[in-house]
Amino acid sequence: MSVEARKALPPYRIKVVEPIPFLDAQQRRQAFEDAGYNPFNLRADQITIDLLSDSGTGATSDAQEAAAALGDESYAGARSWFRFRDEVHDLTGYPFILPVHQGRAGERILFSSLLKPGQICISNTHFDTTHANVELAGAQPVDLPCPEATDLDSDDPFKGNMDLDALHRVLTGPDSHKVGLVLTTITNNGLGAQPVSMANLQATSELCRRHQVPFSLDAARFAENAWLVHQREPGYGGRTPRQIATRAFGYADGCLVSLKKDGLSAVGGFIGLRNEQLHTVCEANLIATEGFSTYGGLAGHDLERLAQGLKEVVDPAYLRARAASTARLARRINDGGVDIIQPPGVHALYLNAGRLLPHLPPHQFPGHALACQLYLDGGIRCAELGSLYLGTINDDHQLVGPAPFELVRLAIPRRVYTDTHLEYVADVLNDIAKSPERVSGYRITSAPRQLRHFKVRLEPLQ
Ligand code: F0G
Repeated sequence: MSVEARKALPPYRIKVVEPIPFLDAQQRRQAFEDAGYNPFNLRADQITIDLLSDSGTGATSDAQEAAAALGDESYAGARSWFRFRDEVHDLTGYPFILPVHQGRAGERILFSSLLKPGQICISNTHFDTTHANVELAGAQPVDLPCPEATDLDSDDPFKGNMDLDALHRVLTGPDSHKVGLVLTTITNNGLGAQPVSMANLQATSELCRRHQVPFSLDAARFAENAWLVHQREPGYGGRTPRQIATRAFGYADGCLVSLKKDGLSAVGGFIGLRNEQLHTVCEANLIATEGFSTYGGLAGHDLERLAQGLKEVVDPAYLRARAASTARLARRINDGGVDIIQPPGVHALYLNAGRLLPHLPPHQFPGHALACQLYLDGGIRCAELGSLYLGTINDDHQLVGPAPFELVRLAIPRRVYTDTHLEYVADVLNDIAKSPERVSGYRITSAPRQLRHFKVRLEPLQ
């Protein structure tokens, strides 16, 4: 057995399985036509391998399900809440914890409590719901990713970092008084799942303290970021992922966490805070909109699964196997002639569709075309991150401002697919790469004004 295979050996075996559907090519074509060639409109029972999201799609453990059976569903002060709160407190060190049903509920509550209209929120990259919730609070989201992030091929280990020089310029420039929050996303999901270094978090923290601006983490993938720090950042190889995560939380004044990722559960999230006054404002909002502050829209059994999931997710054996499995998929894909954003992260790979399909101009949506081909050829569902999602499109559905890159994200659910499933994904993709010119472009037939990618309908160009 190779060293690489040993690293990828998952520290668990499978006890409960769920059948996956296999449609033939004709059925897939029909299903996709009915769905307006939008993967979000497909039914799950039309999909063989679902790489649309790593959010809420992971498998739970026997220990999580055993804990769930002990869920206390009392309206207030449930045992399950205290178990959850103590686990989150131990991990993050924040004195004030508010549970929410998922990450974006935390975004809405924190931003509407903290940001004032006209203010700026600065991030290494806002995730799309984060971006939307900053705007809903009347503030302006500004992304300041490090310059290395735009070189898709470079092997720089921390391409998720904040651009510290640019941050310094804003904090000392004419708009400094407008900055209401600095928010670092770990890992940087909007820019290739790239990690953020501890040095970058520390420097951001110091800048924010000096300029008296609150600093928060969007820490949906805090354990995966900690793993990549453990692997890549000098001085951290001897620390556990849990210790690294705790230190990362320690640099910030608070955090937003969607627990649908590294909480290893289908639902959940929390807001962590140090500031009591801000906690009181957020708590009132939480009670009015999510639920009482000891459950925040979650059931007792969810809180139990989450408390246990937070212990399991920082297990080095689990993180090593997950990262190695993603890296193996990346290597297979590269060997087949498809480029991805380098270096591979943990929760997702980002395919460079623009480079694979040079015959398709941005207005024919090469990223979307590749995502569609993966479904048509192999029943694989994934989503475009290119001009369809991020470009500027006019009322006649014409692309007038392309996205900087034409990417496709393969998001990998936690503990769900075996190496054999991922090998199949690489095979289907590599077959496409053998004759990419047969992939046709797409045109939009109808699109909503907001959140276009979820409900847009398209048709293939002949
Ligand atoms: N922040 C980040 C970095 C995320 O990736 C997500 C969700 C959220 C916040 C919002 O959390 O879904 O629990 O409300 N990302 C999912 C994805 C949807 O597929 O990347 P949520």
